[in-house]
Amino acid sequence: MTLEFVTLAFDGPVALVTIDRPKALNALNAQVLQELDQALGLAAAHADTRALILTGEGGKAFVAGADIAEMAQYTPAQALAFSAKGHQVMARLEALPFPTIAAVNGFALGGGLELALACDLLYASEKAKLGLPEVSLAVIPGFGGTQRLMRAVGKLRARELIFTGEAIDAAKAKEIGLALEVLPHDALLPRCKEIAHTIATRGPLALSQAKRVIEAGADLPLKDANELERQAFALLFGTDDQKEGMRAFLEKRKAAFKNL
Ligand code: CAA
Repeated sequence: MTLEFVTLAFDGPVALVTIDRPKALNALNAQVLQELDQALGLAAAHADTRALILTGEGGKAFVAGADIAEMAQYTPAQALAFSAKGHQVMARLEALPFPTIAAVNGFALGGGLELALACDLLYASEKAKLGLPEVSLAVIPGFGGTQRLMRAVGKLRARELIFTGEAIDAAKAKEIGLALEVLPHDALLPRCKEIAHTIATRGPLALSQAKRVIEAGADLPLKDANELERQAFALLFGTDDQKEGMRAFLEKRKAAFKNL
């Protein structure tokens, strides 16, 4: 794929998307956002994709935020359009029919943390620094950070991070439930690949339904969310993979899922 600032590679069923603009610490300008959108579309169009890892190039940053140089002179209308594009890309990530993993290998600030928050799982290197520093620029997070951070760690902690604008290290991120694991820098990507490949062995339609039900259910009253689960559970019994999964268990062999 010939994009300038985003690369997409496949390792069997695992797609690896890398934001590759290290000179600006992988900051998201309109072009990077557009290319990321394209890369996610291509990963989704690839029928064999079962999991996706998102990371940043250069060893220093995951993504250091939306591009401040580009935003500096925005009018409110331009800011609205830029925010809409950011929200659309984050929503696309969330709606992918397979799990996504943020491999946070350095600065994940502003739009960078917002991107990581739109992934299903987040692992951090011990070099990672995570935060929403927008108020230091006299703006607020614009790609969903106020809402996704609050949902991830609760209102109180989200307020502290957003109001102070200060970044936290990986250990603190793990302590507050923002990161699953803190890994030595060089072990981060291998660990994320290991998780992704484990996920890739599971029933793909079940993964997609589990993701959908968790995502949609989080915003619903428990009764309605449980109903969503009940419907999705039943739906899966109409799939070949469910028959294969249960037959394989009873026959004491590995299941061979077909995404059918
Ligand atoms: N936008 C544009 N350029 C950026 C950038 C950003 N968010 N972050 C870093 N860069 C650029 C720097 O301008 C610098 O470019 P030059 O070499 O051309 O001067 C280059 O990347 C390297 O950065 P630093 O020299 O600043 O590196 P450092 O190690 O001294 O500091 C840092 C690293 C603490 C991450 C610092 O770069 C920084 O604070 N970056 C901005 C972080 C930020 O505020 N992010 C939020 C942006 S607003 C947002 O994201 C809004 C939203 O929600 C949509």
